[in-house]
Amino acid sequence: MKRLTISFISFLTALFGWGQTTAIPVYLDETKPIEQRVEDALARMTLEEKVAMCHAQSKFSSAGVPRLGIPENWMSDGPHGIRPEVLWDEWDQAGWTNDSCTAFPALTCLAATWNPEMAALYGNAIGEEARYRNKNVLLGPGVNIYRTPLNGRNFEYMGEDPYLAARMVVPYVQGVQSNGVAACVKHFALNNQEQYRQQVNVEVSDRALHEIYLPAFKAAVTEGKAWAIMGSYNMYKGQHCCHNQYLLKDILRDLWHFDGVVISDWGGVHNTQEAIYNGLDMEFGTWTNNKDWGDSNAYNAYYLANPFLRLIREGKVKEDALDKKVRNILRLAFRTTMNSKRPFGSFATPEHAAIGLRIAQEGIVLLKNSPLTPKKTDVVLPVDFNKTKKIAVIGENAIKIMIIGGGSSSLKSKYEISPLEGIKQHVGDRAEVVFARGYVSDQLNKKGEIKHDGMFINDAIDARSRDELLSEAVATAKNADLVIFVGGLNKYNGQDCEGSDRKGLELPYEQDKVIAALAKANKNLAVVIISGNATAMPWVNDVPAIVQTWYNGTEAGNALGAMLTGEVNPSGKLPFSFPVKLEDVGAHAWGDYPGAKANGGIHERYNEDIFVGYRWFEHRKIKPLFAFGHGLSYTSFAYGKAHISAPSLSEGETLTVSLPVRNTGTRTGKEVVQLYIGDEQSSVVRPIKELKKFLKIELQPNETQEVSFTLSVEDLKFFDENAQQWTAEPGKFKAYIGSSSSDIRQTVGFELVKR
Ligand code: GLC
Repeated sequence: MKRLTISFISFLTALFGWGQTTAIPVYLDETKPIEQRVEDALARMTLEEKVAMCHAQSKFSSAGVPRLGIPENWMSDGPHGIRPEVLWDEWDQAGWTNDSCTAFPALTCLAATWNPEMAALYGNAIGEEARYRNKNVLLGPGVNIYRTPLNGRNFEYMGEDPYLAARMVVPYVQGVQSNGVAACVKHFALNNQEQYRQQVNVEVSDRALHEIYLPAFKAAVTEGKAWAIMGSYNMYKGQHCCHNQYLLKDILRDLWHFDGVVISDWGGVHNTQEAIYNGLDMEFGTWTNNKDWGDSNAYNAYYLANPFLRLIREGKVKEDALDKKVRNILRLAFRTTMNSKRPFGSFATPEHAAIGLRIAQEGIVLLKNSPLTPKKTDVVLPVDFNKTKKIAVIGENAIKIMIIGGGSSSLKSKYEISPLEGIKQHVGDRAEVVFARGYVSDQLNKKGEIKHDGMFINDAIDARSRDELLSEAVATAKNADLVIFVGGLNKYNGQDCEGSDRKGLELPYEQDKVIAALAKANKNLAVVIISGNATAMPWVNDVPAIVQTWYNGTEAGNALGAMLTGEVNPSGKLPFSFPVKLEDVGAHAWGDYPGAKANGGIHERYNEDIFVGYRWFEHRKIKPLFAFGHGLSYTSFAYGKAHISAPSLSEGETLTVSLPVRNTGTRTGKEVVQLYIGDEQSSVVRPIKELKKFLKIELQPNETQEVSFTLSVEDLKFFDENAQQWTAEPGKFKAYIGSSSSDIRQTVGFELVKR
């Protein structure tokens, strides 16, 4: 038999010349190492083709090499979903009818899940949508640290703690890129506010840079293996971050060995020489004619377009500077558009909506749920349908379109379940649900329609006065068994939106007045705040139940309805602290937010240094309104005694901290067990404690799980500015284990020794 097979194959070989592979060019041969393919493609490209690759050709695309079959690169916002198609050179939408996406929850919600599994689901699902829409670069996620609660874009990011953001960004990046789509992690770096975002020159210590502002980017690159990074608009050390020697070369390339592509923010390039030599690969923009805001379709005028070509032709710039960029861009192509094995994606599917719903359900945070009377059983949530036959839902945010707005992360979704719709669907026929608007936002009490991205939305306009709305709300509340107020911010300018910061911590549109009136009208009141930032709550002692939820996208209302009616037990934890007042925040008490004019520019000193968020509150012994990591459940958890595997450890060793956690309530619930490390003796000032481990577990009633964390010297280090490296000093340390940064249940001491 074997002989027969061999002779048959040799016959076919003779007949068809099989066995001699037709010689395909190396750059097209996927069996060849990628770097070999890069060099082969580079050698085949002309100077003009190489320069054309380094800058935009349209609002969201850059040239390929048609002659060689190398495709164009197509980028798309954003971190929460795939942006509707826009016109070639306009921000306005192209009016397609097949680009309504799944709007996933904002990344603050993802961070609030404290569940890396959710990040993996999220990344893969949004990567599938990008892939289906033929985008090979997703302009997200954003991981800028939450330094001030006024920052207009905090809703796009993952909170105030570098460790939480780092743990959550890695699976997201891996999920996106498993679809052959590059995650473009942004905005690198120190883009922590929108005020003066194009000019502000941030001055920050190396310690704060490395300990607070870089870790999430570092994790995305060194663990997530991100294929793209977006430079930020602001400046650092006097250079714009889109072409910043320190960030893009010294740190990103030399320290982290990043081999992906660096993309500018849109219009973030200001200097040809720096753009050529400081690590930028691709320039994208908005009508810049490389002098100022210029003509449409001015792409050949970009800094990395004709000016760059001319300098090379005149011999003033070596072609090698260009080749460095093109290698990174070709590597992007071979990882994405020219990877024939990548999947085909999927778009706006029920499965993606279900993933968005799961993430939203896991990210909603129950801040307060106090008993109405000392009996301690009559909490407001979840709704008790034995005594609740009429529910009044009050507040504009219960009906407000939230997927549109907020800037570049704005989306056109297939549908959006509002809080009111979601509450009605989950209440069903168990109670009557009535609605009163309660308040109206500025933009919506005028006639006419709201235009966003060129798209008109007739978003629940109401011309009534605030007094009319208030009296209607109070009357409605008085006649109900339960009142659910739904308010917060709304992604309009100054209310969680790119390009503008908030002016203060307070809720807008006189919501505090409405909430205070409702609390007087009916003690059975739950306040639901939708926002991407902390807000002031002067009524906090008058309201028995408070829920913090997020811009949760397509299934937002269903997630909230399921949580309020008890179908889902909340398990979210705050990814940032809630201050009582703005002056309690480091950036405002000690830092000089938003920066000030000096020497012809805007300069801002992050004086609070490493003390951001809970680090600041604990360092200054300021009690927050709600602490980082805080979040209640409809059940309760008991933490048993913590044990440590050894009294000390040294370099190269690990030790384990473990403890039993039990569900002491009557229903299944999830708990995020958090471990913080405090350095008891250090030569430099350090925070009281810093998050270094966490684990989300699900427990049945009365179930106990042994939770273990393995610690190494890495978890004890700080960034030594003199040595310019991470170091840990021998001495005593403490591990704090708890349900939030301010609810520590167990503490164990140990020592770092030199053996
Ligand atoms: C914007 C944003 C950036 C976005 C880009 C494209 O200005 O800063 O996050 O991806 O431009 O819309």
